[in-house]
Amino acid sequence: MPKPQRWMIGNWKMNAPPGLQAYAQSLSKREATPVRVALCPPATILQRLSDALHGAPVMTGGQDCHAADHGAFTGSVSAPMIREAGARLCLAGHSERRLGLGERNDIIAGKVEAIQRQGLIAVVCVGESQATRAAGEAEAFTVRQLGESLPMATRTEQLIIAYEPVWAIGTGLTPRRDDIAAMHAALRKALVIRFGEDAESIAILYGGSVNPANARTILDVPDVAGCLVGAASLDPAAFATLIAAAEVDRP
Ligand code: PGA
Repeated sequence: MPKPQRWMIGNWKMNAPPGLQAYAQSLSKREATPVRVALCPPATILQRLSDALHGAPVMTGGQDCHAADHGAFTGSVSAPMIREAGARLCLAGHSERRLGLGERNDIIAGKVEAIQRQGLIAVVCVGESQATRAAGEAEAFTVRQLGESLPMATRTEQLIIAYEPVWAIGTGLTPRRDDIAAMHAALRKALVIRFGEDAESIAILYGGSVNPANARTILDVPDVAGCLVGAASLDPAAFATLIAAAEVDRP
């Protein structure tokens, strides 16, 4: 089984960096390397960013989509729409949607199915709260959350997992190295139990307050195949540093 692909994925959330074209241009100059790079902008500028990055070794992605392909769902965007706007991947189950908008695991599983049906890669976000970690239940909780967020007919070749502890997102806090390693090992084990050998090439990323100062340390943790980055991805120079950190060869 091939090893997981390495990734650096930016999630702009409900923000658009000033100078979209200049940002895209700075990335367009990047050489293709084994590290896959993607940016997930707000849906209204997804097409524009996809166009600006056309031909560059940088993909675009949606931040969320509806489980249905079309219909009377005011305000929602479907996976086919995300694909038509040039995206190659789409996030599902970000904690800001799970907690802020009440999205349950079964809703996320429906979205993952819709994303994969379009031939897109689903980036499934999971992670525990501070209270769950303090109770010593971080791994059990996150493994269960992952299991329930994946549809019955999951396509492992179109799947990325992002471990994002809720308490580390946007706070400047990050888990200890050993805690990230233990969580990634627990998630890998659960994936192997469910999908067998196919699970070995699923990339498991870390997300939550990744920045140019801590990226190298995090990327060195065993079985961390890259990062999902919020705030630091809004700054093209910081994001370029993160990509470079992922490009450093690791055993
Ligand atoms: P952050 O966000 O890097 O700003 O902590 C990460 C995320 O929410 O994916």
